[in-house]
Amino acid sequence: MKKPFKVLLIITMTILMTISQLGLLAACNGGTKSKILREKYADYFKVGFAINYELLNLPEYQEIYKHFNSMTAENEMKWAYLRPNAYQTSYQKADAFIKKAKELNIGMRGHALVWHHTSAVPYYINSSISKNSFLTYIKEHVDTTIKHFGDEVIYAWDVVNEAITDNDNSASIYRRSGDGSGGASFFYDIAGEDYIFTAFRQAQETVEENNLNIKLFYNDYNMNNQAKRSRAIQMIRNIRAQGIRVDGIGMQAHYNIHTYKESEFKKAIEDFIAEGLEIHITELDVSVHKDNNSRFETLSSELEEAQARVFKSIYKICREFSEHVTSVTTWGVADDHTWLDNFPVSNRKNWPLLFSETYEPKKGFEAIMDFTS
Ligand code: GLA
Repeated sequence: MKKPFKVLLIITMTILMTISQLGLLAACNGGTKSKILREKYADYFKVGFAINYELLNLPEYQEIYKHFNSMTAENEMKWAYLRPNAYQTSYQKADAFIKKAKELNIGMRGHALVWHHTSAVPYYINSSISKNSFLTYIKEHVDTTIKHFGDEVIYAWDVVNEAITDNDNSASIYRRSGDGSGGASFFYDIAGEDYIFTAFRQAQETVEENNLNIKLFYNDYNMNNQAKRSRAIQMIRNIRAQGIRVDGIGMQAHYNIHTYKESEFKKAIEDFIAEGLEIHITELDVSVHKDNNSRFETLSSELEEAQARVFKSIYKICREFSEHVTSVTTWGVADDHTWLDNFPVSNRKNWPLLFSETYEPKKGFEAIMDFTS
């Protein structure tokens, strides 16, 4: 063979081999070779973590943060924290999150403006106030809070959290005191659904008048349960029927390895899409316990594998619907700190997250990085 032809042949072969290798790699890696979660999911949705103020600057977490591009304050943006008494705001801790998010160059979900839970309600909001003052307080709180944090970092707010009853036999879709829900609410007793309309109406007015690029969400748990989901959808229709905007649904996604079902999770997402809602998975964790009596000394590989299958399924379904699922957040960073160590059983170890107690990626992490199966 003549020399110029030989050179040409070698060059052509090399190019062809490189192209096919790249194609193979792309197929194996879901389009990117990256070992960084946020890069791997760059074409799909934001990946986030929740954290509390005390842990924000924990040295061991700093390396893990590189995997994420969204953050949620576990508590510090709730009403009782931001306005501990009626005439005084307290932004110091919450502002530290905004500062950190800027340093990390990531976004934040604002969580949560109106939530009935005692841990989130300031003392001056109580069952003895009038409907009028309750609604006035809500308007003031929603308006000043959204304006204070702005949209440089915050891209969504949970405007109302957990307003739907858990009781399938309740006369109302809403959570009320004495309705048998896990945690009663006096909000509905005072104001009926007006407190929900008022919160969303004010949130809409504030973002629109101030040109803020912030999506407005309703956030709740057990959204895989058909009956509870129907109630949430009914509530969102009621809000929208008032001409008020609700952009999305936050599915908290506190799951466990025993009862999670892919078909139910998928159906929930499909139902919300049919309502024209954007979807965020807002508080994902996967408990290894079946009931209150379950105890484990350590996380066995069988448990970790079962958990990895659940994580894999969740992220896979979310990728499938990534046109509508735009953010997926785990409720914590690593297994050294999780609210599930004390809920629903206090002082019982759980391992519900993607990183281990010693800050290593777990099998769940590997599973969601692998798009091949
Ligand atoms: C609910 C709330 C969260 C948090 C968890 C428990 O899901 O939405 O803010 O308080 O409970 O950690």
